[in-house]
Parts: sequence; structure tokens; C-alpha cells
Amino acid sequence: MRRALITGITGQDGSYLAELLLEKGYEVHGLVRRSSSFNRGRIDPLWFAPGGDRLHLHYGDMTDGVSLVNLVHSVRPDEVYNLAAQSHVKVSFEMPEYTASADAVGTIRLLEAIRTAGLTDCRFYQASTSEMFGATPPPQDERTTFHPRSPYGAAKLFAHWTTVNYREAYGLYAVSGILFNHESPRRGETFVTRKVTRGVAHIKAGLTDRLVLGNLDAVRDWGYAKEYVEGMWRMLQQDSPDDYVLATGVGTTVRDFVRMSFECVGLDWEQYVDHDSRYERPTEVDALIGDASKAERELGWRAETKVEGLAQLMVEADLAATAQG
Ligand SMILES: NC(=O)c1ccc[n+]([C@@H]2O[C@H](COP(=O)([O-])OP(=O)(O)OC[C@H]3O[C@@H](n4cnc5c(N)ncnc54)[C@H](OP(=O)(O)O)[C@@H]3O)[C@@H](O)[C@H]2O)c1
Repeated sequence: MRRALITGITGQDGSYLAELLLEKGYEVHGLVRRSSSFNRGRIDPLWFAPGGDRLHLHYGDMTDGVSLVNLVHSVRPDEVYNLAAQSHVKVSFEMPEYTASADAVGTIRLLEAIRTAGLTDCRFYQASTSEMFGATPPPQDERTTFHPRSPYGAAKLFAHWTTVNYREAYGLYAVSGILFNHESPRRGETFVTRKVTRGVAHIKAGLTDRLVLGNLDAVRDWGYAKEYVEGMWRMLQQDSPDDYVLATGVGTTVRDFVRMSFECVGLDWEQYVDHDSRYERPTEVDALIGDASKAERELGWRAETKVEGLAQLMVEADLAATAQG
């Protein structure tokens, strides 16, 4: 039985990936952080799903190298998916040092744990991001110059190059998946898409009549997270390791995503949305639109869900959640 270790298993992507790997018959180990409040809502249903007895959780932290060494040495995984991160761009401006420790140095801690455990056949996936392209105009692919515009983007770029270096220096099967934005009903509530779809549901239910947002002009390439974790898995099943962009190839402004989401419930967004510059970042990323043709050619992966469908499924999930209270 193949054994996978997922850091960030409690997050959006970690929960979908754990589901996928359990379905594929893997033994799945997840790194979880100790928290004074409940932080496992996304993976709780997995205990009762088929294969739930193959799920194992372990306490640890990307900023605590000893916990990572102990975990990797005891689990001895065949595949490691490094999804743990302080993943919020705006927060990274407020906590740059922590973001660098968790996202950049944390990746080195994990790679060193794999190397020192002598796991020469272990396959490693690094959750890289389109934020590494930052100021470089679209379309962006694997050959595009990086120019990050946030501590988050810079930390992820360090982790990206570290992953490439461990592949070249030690022959580790290490890949960097450069993923453009991907969303779902499980997206954290402070990320713009989810903030919008949850706001729409609350407005429709009469709980509020305002939605306050930052930069409406930013262009992003939004896909469906459930499809993107399949791409992560495929990256680790190739004959040789390489880096891949996953994206839909379609750019949409935040304004248009807002409009689509309000249209799902028959409302005019302009009646409800306010702008507040406090939600903007010191350096904005204007446009991210990915070219995933290499992933389509070599992995047979393609984003199926278009942005309108994504807005629809997220709004519907938030309407249902709001109705349940
Ligand atoms: N979603 C996207 O559009 C996107 C695009 C490109 C790249 N990425 C990257 O892909 C990965 C997964 O994204 P996501 O959307 O699933 O993010 P997410 O929902 O924010 O999940 C982040 C996960 O990392 C964990 N974590 C944070 N800091 C940690 C630390 N110091 N030690 C251990 N665990 C820690 C979180 O644990 P808690 O639950 O305890 O907070 C959570 O499980 C992230 O690395 C993100 O940067 C995401």
C-alpha cells in the first residue's frame, strides 16, 4: 500500500487531496497544528468515508524542524505533498517573518527531513503559486520570469527554487506545481472569492446588505480546487520529475466574479458592494492568467470547471450553509 504524507491536510487543497488519495487506496498521514479551537472541519467527514481507517493525523508545525524530522522518519512516506503554508497574501505583509519561516524555510526543513531519513525513492510535491510571477504580465507558464510582489510570493519562490535544487543536487523526485488560483466551497472565508460568495448568500438571506472589498480591477485565473489536486497527484506519477503550471487560461476581474456571483441569486451587485482601500496591498499583482498547455500535453490534465460554474457552485454551497445557520 502506498503511503502519503500531506502537510496542510486541514486546508482547502489538503482536504480534497486526502479524499482523492484515500479513494485511490493510499495510507494517508497528515500533519496538523495544535489549536485551541477546532480546525479539522474540512477533513472530519473523511473518518466516516470509505478508507477512513487509513487516515492518520500527527501534530507538528512547519516552523518546528524536529517535529518534521520525527514525523518523516517514523512514517517513511512514498509521497510527500507539501501544502502547508501561511497562504494569505495580505496577511504576509503583516507577518513577513513568520510567512518566510513557514513557507520558505519550512520547505527546506521538510526536504532535509526526507534527505536525512535516506528516503531516496520518496516523491515530493511543492505547492508553488502563480503569485511568484507577480508583476510579470500574462500569459504565464513554466518559462516565465518570476517577480513576486509580496512576502508570500517571495517565500514561495524560495521554496520553489529549493525544490528544484534538491532535484538537481540529490536526485530527489521533487516537483513544483505552479498553481493559479483555485477555489471551492472549502476556500477560507477571508479569500476574495469565498468572501464574495458568502457575502452574496448573507445578503440574499437578509443578514446584511453590504459587502466591502478591496481592488476590483485585479485579474485572476480561477479554477476549481477539486480538479487541481488530481493534477498534483499526476505530477508525482511521471517517469521523471518536472515542474508544471495548472490554470484555466481564462482571466476574470474581481468585479466580474462579483457580478457573476450576485447574478446567481438575481441581484445587482452595484447595489451592495462598497470599496475600502484598507483591503488593498502595498504592492498589487495586476493580472495572473496561466498557460497550462504543458500539463495538458504531459499529464493529460485540463481544468474543466469554468469561472461561471465555479461562482455558481460556491454560491449554492454558501446559500445552503447559510440556510442551515
Ligand atoms: N488555493 C490557491 O489558490 C493556491 C494557489 C497556489 C498555491 N497555493 C498553495 O497551496 C497550498 C494549499 O492551499 P490552500 O488553499 O489549501 O491553503 P489553506 O486553505 O490556507 O491551507 C493551508 C494549510 O496549511 C496549514 N498550515 C499553515 N501554517 C502552518 C504551519 N506553520 N505548520 C503546519 N501547517 C500549517 C493550515 O493549517 P490550519 O488549518 O491549522 O490553519 C492549513 O492546513 C498552500 O501552500 C498555498 O500557499 C494555493
